[in-house]
Amino acid sequence: MDSKASALLVLIAFMLAVADGSDGGGGALGASYIFGDSLVDAGNNNFLPTLSKADIKPNGIDFKASGGKPTGRYTNGRTIGDIVGEELGQGHYAMPFLDPNTTGEVILYGVNYASGGGGIMNATGRIFVNRLSMDIQIDYFNITRQQIDKLLGASKAREHIMKKSIFSITIGSNDFLNNYLLPVLSMGARVSQSPDAFVDDLISHLRSQLTRLYQLDARKFIIGNVGPIGCIPYQRTINQLNENECVALPNELALRYNSKLKNLVAQLNDNLPGANFVHANVYDLVMELITNYDKYGFTTASKACCGNGGQYAGIIPCGPTSSLCNDREKHVFWDPYHPSEAANVLIAKQLLQGDPKYVSPMTLRELRDLNL
Ligand SMILES: *[C@@H]1O[C@H](CO)[C@@H](O)[C@H](O)[C@H]1NC(C)=O
Ligand SMILES: *[C@@H]1O[C@H](CO)[C@@H](O)[C@H](O)[C@H]1NC(C)=O
Ligand SMILES: *[C@@H]1O[C@H](CO)[C@@H](O)[C@H](O)[C@H]1NC(C)=O
Repeated sequence: MDSKASALLVLIAFMLAVADGSDGGGGALGASYIFGDSLVDAGNNNFLPTLSKADIKPNGIDFKASGGKPTGRYTNGRTIGDIVGEELGQGHYAMPFLDPNTTGEVILYGVNYASGGGGIMNATGRIFVNRLSMDIQIDYFNITRQQIDKLLGASKAREHIMKKSIFSITIGSNDFLNNYLLPVLSMGARVSQSPDAFVDDLISHLRSQLTRLYQLDARKFIIGNVGPIGCIPYQRTINQLNENECVALPNELALRYNSKLKNLVAQLNDNLPGANFVHANVYDLVMELITNYDKYGFTTASKACCGNGGQYAGIIPCGPTSSLCNDREKHVFWDPYHPSEAANVLIAKQLLQGDPKYVSPMTLRELRDLNL
């Protein structure tokens, strides 16, 4: 190619970039910085020596971007984070922070810090040996934050983070399942704390964690509450429940936490100037799918599609030797713990444009379009 032709190509590329308002990589359509646990982990645990991994088949069997190969996502297809990113118009799934390929401009589309087994508390998930807890996930975002400064310069970087980036936080389930509720006394916090004291501790740590993100210029947040963890196939199996029954204690703890989380979100909206915290009522949303599963085209909300053990295939995590259902889109749960892609699609749809009883004070689309 001669130099005139290549100069022309550069000019055309420049004009296209200006036309769609792009400032180099994902900027125009926004970015997702994703924090949380296995519900949204997109592969970080593949890079950790940990007992919590989803890097084996048939996980990912319906994930088109990998051709059905496992990616470390704890579901058969896309996570809620992936679906929301697509719907908000992002050109690229937020890549796992620990993936060595997550460098350069790709971080402007967002980065995923979520980690299977992770929780608000450092001690949560210790039984898995390794996982990224919220404090570490935010330390890692601080590293990304400095990389964005280098890529865009301080002022544009600040604008990218404040105006074009959505910070999603899906955390808390493991603080109950893999901390407070653990039967091994030395592992769980139950030995020394009442439920209310533990929940207050969680809320107070989450408040500092969200405030740290705000200090790093995050302004658009969506915070999910804890789902009905007493209804997952694992709990139904080990407690030998009947179809349509859930275990009371885990759900009660989730509801206690959720009511204080709602207040926290309201307080942060009042106290942090310019910040917009959206509350996602995952508990009621998932409970609706579980209770009225047939209305949404599912045939079961109690049996895991992939898993082994007991009436609901709820004891041994999904892997190559698991029994695998052949109607994956008809199961609310993919494995003993995690929703199927079909359920994730319904949840994501509600968060994007749903009912105020599920997403408030605005929807995710409105949050994206908010002009700060
Ligand atoms: C990083 O990208 C290269 C080139 O596309 C690929 O071969 C490699 O497998 C990737 N590494 C990881 C850890 O995904
Ligand atoms: C986690 O550990 C760090 C450093 O040791 C500490 O500063 C932080 O408060 C701890 N966080 C929680 C939630 O316990
Ligand atoms: C981010 O990292 C810098 C330098 O490493 C440190 O000074 C700052 O306190 C950190 N900020 C937050 C909010 O963690």
